[in-house]
Amino acid sequence: MPGTKRILTIFGTRPEAIKLFPLLHALEADGRFDSRICVSGQHRGMLDQVLQIAEIVPHHDLDLMQPDQTLDALTARLLTGLGEIMDREQPDWVVVQGDTATAMAGAMAAYYRKIPVTHVEAGLRSGNIYHPWPEEVNRKVIGSIAALHCAPTVTAREALLAENTDPGTVHVTGNTVIDALQWISARIEAQPELAGGLAELEKRFAGKRIIGVTTHRRENFGEGMQAIAAAIRRLAARPEVAVIFPVHLNPNVRAVMEQELAGVEDVAMIEPLDYPHFARLLSIAHLILTDSGGVQEEAPALGKPVLVMRETTERPEGVEAGTAKLVGTDADTIVAEANRLLDDQQAWLEMSRAHNPFGDGKSAARICDLLCEHS
Ligand code: UD1
Ligand code: UDP
Repeated sequence: MPGTKRILTIFGTRPEAIKLFPLLHALEADGRFDSRICVSGQHRGMLDQVLQIAEIVPHHDLDLMQPDQTLDALTARLLTGLGEIMDREQPDWVVVQGDTATAMAGAMAAYYRKIPVTHVEAGLRSGNIYHPWPEEVNRKVIGSIAALHCAPTVTAREALLAENTDPGTVHVTGNTVIDALQWISARIEAQPELAGGLAELEKRFAGKRIIGVTTHRRENFGEGMQAIAAAIRRLAARPEVAVIFPVHLNPNVRAVMEQELAGVEDVAMIEPLDYPHFARLLSIAHLILTDSGGVQEEAPALGKPVLVMRETTERPEGVEAGTAKLVGTDADTIVAEANRLLDDQQAWLEMSRAHNPFGDGKSAARICDLLCEHS
């Protein structure tokens, strides 16, 4: 259609797919846009889980995941693969999300073609290029290229302005993860069977307090993963506690967890959950242990205390709101902080209030309007 803007949205991993599907739904429904979708396939199974539930059918799928891929080989494959798609699609805008290798390479390939880039979830900064690694540098690279920065919060906008980013290009949109969470919650309410697959575990652990766990950060590989496993083992030894742990498909995570936790009583190590089932896990959990970015945003929205197993966070809003606490990867500290929440009802209640510092569920609509205004 003449006058429509051709938007090429590029993503490749589970969290990007979750945070972009609300925008893809909005672009598809909006006559101002011709929405084109390219997935890199940086993740395979975990990406496909999201595409399926959100009913997203990509126009291009580079399918480039390899087992235990290295950052340099992955980035090289991404740059050439994504560049070729851009040459074919000739988009008016390229949209990337967050801080993965796919997002960084997508922005670079667009820059090499002088195609303007919109960065969704712009301006997150920990201030430490090795925590999280390599995400902190990925997002700084994207930030230096983007023509439109969709900052989820005021803090993120300020971080970009402190780097001398043109203020006219930085807008606070909220984080689309809240749009996604609201969408999936409504789907589950209408069709509870979408999240019914945990019923057996819920029965097995009836009467216990459930700790939900996820971990996958590269900077936690090795010692950090060992310490996290030790902490889980100690917490699960409490008679009233059970752990549900969907284990990330990264072999560096799985190998350690298999070795340290297989067969431990009251620890259910399960395959990655699809989004409705993970939302269900969040809702039944007494507390969450995670090093994930997205989970740090979802847990406060649901009023679930979250102990963040990282040294720094680029998402201080959850900590400021009182729902999240940074505990690092020392086993004694993780266990002490979790025990405090298990033993002290007041401490648990104080962290259990629902806050939404990350968005109001209308971020995708705002980003659509910005894409038009900035075209
Ligand atoms: C990637 C992102 C990280 C993000 C995380 C979300 C980079 C550098 N890292 O980390 O920022 O927080 O995704 O989960 O972009 N694998 C599978 N199937 C899958 C997914 C992964 O088998 O569906 C295995 C493969 O062996 C793959 C490995 O995990 O090589 C690592 O995947 P990769 O995307 O490189 O890194 P993640 O640790 O998943
Ligand atoms: N998630 C999921 N299934 C799981 C674990 C996580 O659907 O088994 C979702 C979670 O709700 C959040 C996102 O995946 O939206 C976070 O992805 P991940 O932790 O892999 O990456 P990060 O957010 O750290 O980049």
